[in-house]
Amino acid sequence: MGVGAGAAVPPLGGEPPAAGVDEPPEEPPEEHPDSASATNRQSDRGRVRLKMGPRRGLPDVAARGWFSCVCLCRYTARRAVQEPTIEAVQIPCPRVLLRELCEEDAGSVHSWECDPEVVRFLHHGVRSLEQTQASIMRSQTAARRAPRMVYDLAIENPADGRLLGSCGLELKLACRQAPRVYEAGLWYVLARHAWHQGYASEACRALLQFGFDNLRLQRVFLEVDPENRPSVKVARGLGLRQEAHFRQNFWFKGAWCDTLVFARLAGET
Ligand SMILES: CC(C)(COP(=O)(O)OP(=O)(O)OC[C@H]1O[C@@H](n2cnc3c(N)ncnc32)[C@H](O)[C@@H]1OP(=O)(O)O)[C@@H](O)C(=O)NCCC(=O)NCCS
Repeated sequence: MGVGAGAAVPPLGGEPPAAGVDEPPEEPPEEHPDSASATNRQSDRGRVRLKMGPRRGLPDVAARGWFSCVCLCRYTARRAVQEPTIEAVQIPCPRVLLRELCEEDAGSVHSWECDPEVVRFLHHGVRSLEQTQASIMRSQTAARRAPRMVYDLAIENPADGRLLGSCGLELKLACRQAPRVYEAGLWYVLARHAWHQGYASEACRALLQFGFDNLRLQRVFLEVDPENRPSVKVARGLGLRQEAHFRQNFWFKGAWCDTLVFARLAGET
């Protein structure tokens, strides 16, 4: 059961968000006066450009690692006065490209979010186009917050620009006593036409490396319903360690379900 894309972002040191993903969009929390978004704020015809510089509590993503975290697209906020443009993460892989989701992706994302077989093990059910659009908006809002806690990335076939699916990381403080140490929940989903080709494994391998090398995560974890055999295979193939098998701990779409927890620590191979 993947963590839902576009879930609400906890403020630094705050409680993690609820698991549901279709909550109404939240207003951003009050900005810390010395956060990156505050210090980089400048008037630009009502838009604010958020630099990918060092941020309070998070490492400088742009400066580290082999990933080219470049400005791919400049997102013009719908609520142009309040919302900044963002520097987008772009992670090239051998066969796919991980990049920020944008509003134009709504039709593609909806093509799998309206597929009951695809959403069977996801927290949300079949979505309408409007719900998909709202979910992408929440992801974009989350991406603009500093420190950034949600990376909700499209998996694109760079050969033809077609979307294959999405994957992401949602960060949370690993420990309140160590305010700069983060762990992250991993999620992934592919359109049905992209199944059985190893795309999820390829995308997640790159995302894990991004998480450990660039975001300096202490731990990445994944929660999977054991009935979701393809996902269990992906988790094992990624070399994630099975940490737990909780029995009937989760009331999910009308029934009690088990949960497998997989994880990897920084430095673990
Ligand atoms: C889970 C999911 C991402 C797997 O992606 P994928 O790219 O097809 O996975 P892979 O091609 O790497 O296949 C992994 C293994 O699962 C098998 N597999 C893939 N899809 C399968 C299916 N529908 N039924 C049975 N086995 C399947 C593959 O044959 C492969 O097995 P192998 O390692 O023995 O060869 C994809 O099925 C999906 O998007 N499911 C719906 C969303 C979802 O459940 N997300 C995960 C939430 S935790």
